[in-house]
Amino acid sequence: MSRKNIVAGNWKMNLNYEEGLSLFSEIANMAKDEVIGHQEIVVCSPFIHLSSIVKLAETSNKVSVGAQNIHQAEAGAYTGEISASQVRSVGAEYVILGHSERRAYFGETDALLAQKVDVALKHQLKPIFCIGETKEERESGRFFEVIKTQLEQGVFHQDATDFSNIVLAYEPVWAIGTGLTASPEQAQEVHAFIRETLTQHYGEQVAGQTTLLYGGSCNPSNAATLFAQKDIDGGLIGGASLKSRDFIDIAKVFN
Ligand code: PGA
Repeated sequence: MSRKNIVAGNWKMNLNYEEGLSLFSEIANMAKDEVIGHQEIVVCSPFIHLSSIVKLAETSNKVSVGAQNIHQAEAGAYTGEISASQVRSVGAEYVILGHSERRAYFGETDALLAQKVDVALKHQLKPIFCIGETKEERESGRFFEVIKTQLEQGVFHQDATDFSNIVLAYEPVWAIGTGLTASPEQAQEVHAFIRETLTQHYGEQVAGQTTLLYGGSCNPSNAATLFAQKDIDGGLIGGASLKSRDFIDIAKVFN
């Protein structure tokens, strides 16, 4: 069953306005010249870059744009927050939800994330929903259970039609920004488990069409072996997405 390959960059809280525009231009140009497959390239930038890079993206037509967070409410008195409809109104298509940094540093729970997924989908933003276990959860062998609970509580309340707009990213917390990558076998084992869990809940067809990304210290040297795994359909890239050459080389694995 065919499903989309996606390589998404997560810039996190990096780059001032000009630096972001210049990196995005490099990425868009390289994508236009070098990316020849059907893979989708997504850049998830800080809010300040979104509207400008959406305009740059239109000229190259090869890169989509996403945010890294939204608030769960529609609108209102939430000083300093940004809503799904605001993000959508500048032309962004994706939003990262449930990143482990948001879970750990901003106390985002599965219940809160379920609300964010709802509001994102309502406003035609496609969630890149992150799940993954901590080092302790891996070492104690509880990781399958942790990942299943994150899925059940964060996204399984969606019906199959809405769920088909969600991309999942497996990001073992112990591999994020640490230089410790899950081995291709470790990642594949979890991806296969995720797909099996999706099959049980939504059936084989939906499960087979869901894009499952791997994230955590993914770079140009390890991307090809990771993406060669049967159930790994692309990557969510942090550090390496801040270098245009590295990011595009990762995307080119699918050429
Ligand atoms: P990393 O980050 O590639 O720097 O490990 C991945 C992520 O946090 O999405």
